Amino acid sequence: MAPIPKGGTVAVTGAAGFIGGWTVKRLLSRGYRVRACVRDTGNDSRVGFLKAMPGYASGRLTLHSADLDNDGCFDDIFRGCHGVAHISHVSNYEDHRYVERVCNHMITSVNLSQSVTRVIVTSSVAAVMSEMDLEELVRRPVLYEGRYPDASNPKRTPSSQGYSMGKLIAENAFAEAAAESGLWEAITCCPADNVGPILSAHQKDYGPWQHNIETMLTGKYDQNWVYRPWFPVDVRDNADCHIGLLESIQVANAERYIAWSTDAVDVADICARIAIVLPELSFAVSEPVEVHPDRLQAREERYRSNWAGCDLRNDRIRAVTGITFRSFDESLRDCVESLLAVADITPVVRK
Ligand SMILES: NC(=O)c1ccc[n+]([C@@H]2O[C@H](COP(=O)([O-])OP(=O)(O)OC[C@H]3O[C@@H](n4cnc5c(N)ncnc54)[C@H](OP(=O)(O)O)[C@@H]3O)[C@@H](O)[C@H]2O)c1
Repeated sequence: MAPIPKGGTVAVTGAAGFIGGWTVKRLLSRGYRVRACVRDTGNDSRVGFLKAMPGYASGRLTLHSADLDNDGCFDDIFRGCHGVAHISHVSNYEDHRYVERVCNHMITSVNLSQSVTRVIVTSSVAAVMSEMDLEELVRRPVLYEGRYPDASNPKRTPSSQGYSMGKLIAENAFAEAAAESGLWEAITCCPADNVGPILSAHQKDYGPWQHNIETMLTGKYDQNWVYRPWFPVDVRDNADCHIGLLESIQVANAERYIAWSTDAVDVADICARIAIVLPELSFAVSEPVEVHPDRLQAREERYRSNWAGCDLRNDRIRAVTGITFRSFDESLRDCVESLLAVADITPVVRK
């Protein structure tokens, strides 16, 4: 078991995505060799930005078609890699037998490789704090790595909490398999709300944070679930966290690390902030569209107070990676500029 060597080879799943794309870019800039795993290497609307990276021209970056739904798809790709950053989504978070199956075939590929010494499993803060009863936040307000959603709540089911539960299944499956193997380690990274520049136009539709910022720019956005503030992490910092965890000599199998700046921002404040960080835009700030039934709106003040009482921690990831998180203003500004420049979004402007 060991951290990966500087300049070693890393396979990145979900490499065409927002976080995966940035992880590829940052790995290359730090001198690594990268095997970018995407579903379709021929789909240039999704992978063209990877092919445009200078490392692709030299061969330091290679692209590989791998659909997680196909058992064994990573056998050849992982062979010879030192590390794996498993960042991609899966096709279905609600079907937990499917989630387990995907973990198992990926684990088999890691074991077969005989070369991988560390796997970073991208989980989510949803696996830390996704509560069916928001009063749970009052009972356990410290949001840190040792906290898990209340599993005893009868409403925590695959249909309502599939994402959070599926992420925990993956965290545990990789950690247990690594312990059994003894040849590699699985470290979990739990990112929060990724904001920052998109690298390709298709990334504006995912996230969902960059898509929410797009809706602010076009004048029609909402608070897309019962009230919770945004807990941002810049996507570039998140990529650096993943790389830091691959490199760190201080981490151990089965540990999890939350990647967030510990800022908390209200959705309406984010829209207003666009006009402040980019006065040149003459951006017309709007109010969120109310999409919730009255019964949920009536509870919003209570939810605000529950969240306001939470204590967000990032001590652990700062200690093992040395990361300093960017300001939200910088992430927001760069996200907006990329939406205009890369995805051709036209903002609503003041008359
Ligand atoms: N964005 C956030 O704020 C956030 C927060 C917490 C955790 N996360 C986690 O971070 C990871 C990446 O998120 P993201 O925002 O970068 O997502 P994204 O932009 O939607 O990218 C996800 C990638 O997953 C790949 N994928 C989906 N199903 C797949 C399958 N069956 N086989 C192979 N690849 C598949 C897609 O690959 P193709 O493009 O090749 O089809 C896609 O590029 C996810 O695991 C997510 O749960 C994200």
